[in-house]
Order: sequence, then C-alpha cells, then structure tokens
Amino acid sequence: MVTPSNSCTYVIFGATGNLSRIKLMPALYHLESAQRLPAGSRILALGRRPWSRQQCQQQVRTWITEKTERAENSPALTKLIQRLDYFPGNLDDPEMYQRLRDHLHGSDQLPASIVFYLAINPNDFSQVVEQLGRVGLLTENGGWRRVVIEKPFGSDLESARTLQSTIRRHLREEQIYRIDHYLGKSTVQNLLVFRFANTMMEPLWNRNYIDHVQITHAETFGVGNRAGFYEKTGALRDMIQSHLLQLLTLVAMEPPVSMEAEALRDEKVKVLKSVRQISPDQVPAHACRAQYAQGTIDGVPVNGYRQEPGVAAKSTTETYAALKLYLDNWRWRGVPFYLRTGKRLAARQSLVAICFRNPPQQFFHGTQAGRIRQNWILLGIQPCECLRMEMTVKQPGLEMRTRQSSLDASLRMEGDLLHDAYEELLLDVIDGDRSLFLRYDEVEHAWGVVDPVLRAWASGTDAIPSYQAGSWGPPESTRLFEKLEQRWRHSLDPEREET
Ligand code: BG6
Repeated sequence: MVTPSNSCTYVIFGATGNLSRIKLMPALYHLESAQRLPAGSRILALGRRPWSRQQCQQQVRTWITEKTERAENSPALTKLIQRLDYFPGNLDDPEMYQRLRDHLHGSDQLPASIVFYLAINPNDFSQVVEQLGRVGLLTENGGWRRVVIEKPFGSDLESARTLQSTIRRHLREEQIYRIDHYLGKSTVQNLLVFRFANTMMEPLWNRNYIDHVQITHAETFGVGNRAGFYEKTGALRDMIQSHLLQLLTLVAMEPPVSMEAEALRDEKVKVLKSVRQISPDQVPAHACRAQYAQGTIDGVPVNGYRQEPGVAAKSTTETYAALKLYLDNWRWRGVPFYLRTGKRLAARQSLVAICFRNPPQQFFHGTQAGRIRQNWILLGIQPCECLRMEMTVKQPGLEMRTRQSSLDASLRMEGDLLHDAYEELLLDVIDGDRSLFLRYDEVEHAWGVVDPVLRAWASGTDAIPSYQAGSWGPPESTRLFEKLEQRWRHSLDPEREET
C-alpha cells in the first residue's frame, strides 16, 4: 500500500488557521495511522505566525490530541510530527515565494513532487497561484505540481471566470484540485454505488415515479468565529452553490460511461446545464432566504445572527437559503428539487429525501387505513449515515390500519472505521485521482444556477425575514412547494414526521 514513488511534499498555506487545525492535520494523522502516507513524504506548514519548527510541531501535536485522545504518545503521531516543518511567511510578500522556492528546491529531504494546499482566504487564491508561477514553483520539472483550492471558487460567475483565467495562465486543468469536501463523505459516494451498482432502482428513478426530491443540510451551530468570511458569503454561496448542487448532480445524473474522473464530471455538468434558469421575476417563487434570530438550541439560549461577534448590526446576510429547481431533461422534467440549508436550525441533519408519487388509486377509502402515505427513499449523510426505503404496511390486527415501515440498507456495520471526508481527498491528491474534485465547467455552471438569485437578493429592498434559532427555518420557505401536500422532510424517522 505504501508507494514511495508517490512520495511528495505537502505544502499547506494557511497552516495555522481553522481548517488546518480542525480538518487537515487530524486527517493527515489518520492517514499516517492507516499507513497511507507514502514513505518519505513531508509536510511543510506555512503561516504568518513567527513559529519555529518545534513550536509548530508542538501546536499540531496538541490539535491532534485534542481531537483524538488515543493519538497521544502513538507511534503514528511521532512519525507524522517528524515529517512536519514550518515555514513562516506572509502571502503578500513577493520575496517570501523566492525563499519558499529556494527552500523547496534546495533540500534533498523534500520530495520533488509537491502539493500546494490553499487553506487560505479565497481572496488570496489568485495572488498565491500567480506568485508560485512567477518563481517557477508550478513548473513540473522532475516532479509533479498539484494545487488544491478550497471553496468558494469565486463569489459569483464573473469572479469565478476571472479567477479561472488567472490560474490557468500558470496551471493545466489536470494540476488543479478544486475541493468540495462533501464529495469525500461516505454516503455521498454511496449514492453512486446505490444508483449504479444496483439495478432495482433505475426503472423508478425518474419523473414517472418520483414526486419531488429534497436535499437538506441543517446545522445547529451558528456562525461561530467565521463572521469575517460569512458576512460576505451567506448560505446560498457557502452551501448551495457548492455542496448541495453537487449532491443534486449525483442524484440526477445519467449513468456515466465509467467511474473515471472525466466521465463522471461530464455527466455532472450535463445536469447543471439542464437546470432551468430562474428569471428575476421568478426569484420569490423559487428562492427563500432568512437570518436566525435569538432562540434556544438544546435548551441553551443563543444569540441571533446580528448579535454574533463581527456581524454588522443591520446585516442582511442570509443564514438560511432554500431553492426550488427544475431540470429540463428527459428524466426529470417537471420534478421539483428542493434544496435548503441553514445555521442554528432545530437539528444537525444532512439528508437526501426522495418522495415517490401517490399510487394512482387510493384503494383503502372508508377504512382505518385512511390516506396511504407516499414512499420515500432517504439517504442520511450525517449524523446518521444510512439508506432507508419507507413503505406502507398493514398493522397486525383485525382492522385495516397501516403504518410506515422502513427497509434499512445500513451503510455502516459494527466495527467499520469512520473516516473524515478530508482523509480520502488528501490521499486522492497524492494519487492524482480527480474524480472527487470539481472541474472548472462544473463550478461555472453551478454559479450560473445561483447567480440570478444572488443578484435579485443583492438588489432587493425588502427586509430579510428571520427565524428563531432552534426552529426549522422561516415559515415563508413553504411557499416554494408546488403542491399543498408537499412538506419539508426534517428527519429520518417516519413517526416524527407525522407530528
Ligand atoms: C463548509 C461551510 O464548506 O461546510 C460551513 O463553509 C459548513 O459553513 C460546513 O458549516 C459543513 O460541512 P460539515 O462537513 O461540517 O457538515
């Protein structure tokens, strides 16, 4: 499994920041424990703080042990720490890139193939790529060069195009790894297996049987200490343009000719191209936004968004966004896809919920069975990773009563290891596998979907509605439903949905 020929230098820009602390360093530790980091690979943490190598090693050790207690004193942690070096530098300083080049080229300890991971403010992506290009660090001379770009890639269609044209001057598309960590989540990958490794669902997976699709990412957390980023971003850009539209492509795509990166991305792009444009006058019927107000989460009172540190007192940034989209293609024409996301909602729940049409005739009128409920397929992404099909069955007894039962194709068995999405993605970069990364045209078409809504919201004069923290979002969101009987599906549990 360990392939020294793959050994590389992982240069992490923004190594002292949140993403590095919470995700990247712990993921590298888990890869080390699983013996998946190629022998000889090194990690170069780059940040503004004037740390020494020892200080950085100590800090990373603390971050990892805070998250994974059993890491303390483990051989894997010792090995990871030995791989780690620190390089202090300011991204705005052109001379820093020359020093970096001399450092990377001048040491025979550092493998010649290099990953540059940009865990930095999105405004800095283009200048960092330009500077790396200027000093020759992106030239593949004796080893490969790959650049990982975090989201958001641009802040709208136009800025995404500008960013792309800048970075393409220095990089070939094959060297660019646009990350969407949702694609590293195991249920998200299971969606492909569920659809394309089983034949049973395919005949039903279309407008003839499916009433509508809901894709939800709900969080109980607020904006935390990320107001600086979030104030300029909002829920539509932060979650829907990237993660939720990616989920939509996987639910809706046609079978690709293979699971190879380009084949997969070709099909995803076709889905995005088929999304019906929302015209300015349709925005109120197709999109809903809101902001959390004070409330309680798990019995604890929490601030409203405008009271959070760093948020403007009159901020109009949305912390909740919902969209109704239609795909104008043969398979999905007329089926609404409802996408929603929010912070400070009632529960942490990420879910793809597929609602099937009613049976053509209601046979059980006049019996206790009452109205038969629709079938659902539920793909739980988090916290519960699962795949359930809900059916109506007769309750035992003399009466004709029914209840909901669910077939549970559990994704997780006892003893199965849990992996964070970043572990797989960090490894894919080393292996040069781009199937779980975004090609530029995906990003461009995804901006095309949300851009009309962003523009309408930016120019709107109406006050932004609010929802109480700890609720399921603004009541206004139900205006998106095209039928009276459609309702948001909040949980995996059919009983809770009855109430
Ligand atoms: C990030 C967003 O991309 O995804 C965050 O910027 C969001 O605002 C996060 O909280 C959700 O991802 P996960 O994996 O923590 O559920």
